[in-house]
Amino acid sequence: MPKLTRRHMLAATAAGAASSLIAPRETQAACVPAHQPIEGDWPALEIAHGPSLQMPTPDGITIVCHTTRPALVWVEYGTGDKLDRKAVPSAHGVVNPFALNHVIRLSDLQPGTRYRYRIHAKTFLEYELANGRRWAHRVRYGQEIATEPRSFTTLDPAAANYAFYIVQDIHEHVQRFDEMLNVVEWDRTAFIALNGDMINDFMRPDQNFTGFLDLCVKRFAMETPIVYARGNHDIRGHYAPTLSEYMALHDGRAYYAFDHGPVHYIVLDSGEDKNDGHEYYGGLADFDRYIDEQARWLKQHLASEAAQRAPFRVAIFHIPPYNSDWYGEVRVRRKWIPILNEGNVNLALCGHQHELILLNPGTRDNNFPILIGDMNTIQRVDVSPQALNITVIRHSGKVEKELSITRRS
Ligand SMILES: [Fe+2]
Ligand SMILES: [Fe+2]
Repeated sequence: MPKLTRRHMLAATAAGAASSLIAPRETQAACVPAHQPIEGDWPALEIAHGPSLQMPTPDGITIVCHTTRPALVWVEYGTGDKLDRKAVPSAHGVVNPFALNHVIRLSDLQPGTRYRYRIHAKTFLEYELANGRRWAHRVRYGQEIATEPRSFTTLDPAAANYAFYIVQDIHEHVQRFDEMLNVVEWDRTAFIALNGDMINDFMRPDQNFTGFLDLCVKRFAMETPIVYARGNHDIRGHYAPTLSEYMALHDGRAYYAFDHGPVHYIVLDSGEDKNDGHEYYGGLADFDRYIDEQARWLKQHLASEAAQRAPFRVAIFHIPPYNSDWYGEVRVRRKWIPILNEGNVNLALCGHQHELILLNPGTRDNNFPILIGDMNTIQRVDVSPQALNITVIRHSGKVEKELSITRRS
């Protein structure tokens, strides 16, 4: 397959941008007056997409699903055979029964513990009419559905040996992504990391589904969680402001940290690749301030005991600090590399360049290796208390590169 460079991708994206803006169904749902029955041509209630497990931590996990019509959704879960706990998506205590996109956080979980869960959904029909008025305390529901129970295991700082896999720049090439997943050894895989540019600009509401998320659900995401880092093509376009309804945030942020075994993970959002004022963005980019915000968080976070006591620190972000002088690379280089050096980061995993590049420590001003995967590679990272062993595997299954990082004294 000929190599598709970033420049080719940008040209293809510009051509695709002419597609019309379709009024989103979400907008229809948001406009349904709450005091009226929800009527119209909505199909029967089903889980249309998902559920996918996202944002795993030792004490929680986020479940994301999408229904065919506005619905109230909740999750029943528990350990063993019991599903005796319940989580409902709410904001400031208020539950929305008119949503199509559902993001539900399960919190207060035990580390390294297997949980079972199932999704429930039911349609809101109306507030009952009596004596000429609608009554808020008399809600009438309609069709109700539930999924088969599935299971997951929470992350665990005490875990010793495991693997995770990371891909980048899938750009909606689901068939290639499907082939890549054939190399995954699922039994020892803690999570799959998606390191940005999973889609080609967010211009249609179904792009995350058709581009990669439906495949993730089919192959693993109902039981093995996704760790997601945003790429510049994911955060651009008509639906970009709604991205968090598909790929969940972590405590309201797209940058976050978590522990699993001997590794402390730091996931950052490297933003766009050109300057905020560039004509390409039409006034819709505000990333300089956001990169600075993350730099402040990163500096404070890496100085914490939680970050420094771990044997390894691994940073995951889409735009690498090198190998070009595009604005986005230079910004990451200047704003984040000194902090990552200072914070004893052991490895950074990046994408964006559509080229497989390994930058050893000291190649530039980096004190740690930076591995940039390309569109056709999946990287397996075997984690043990002594070492991180990285294997770069082509979608054909061929091992392209191997790298071992041993624990610093
Ligand atoms: Fe890309
Ligand atoms: Fe990119």
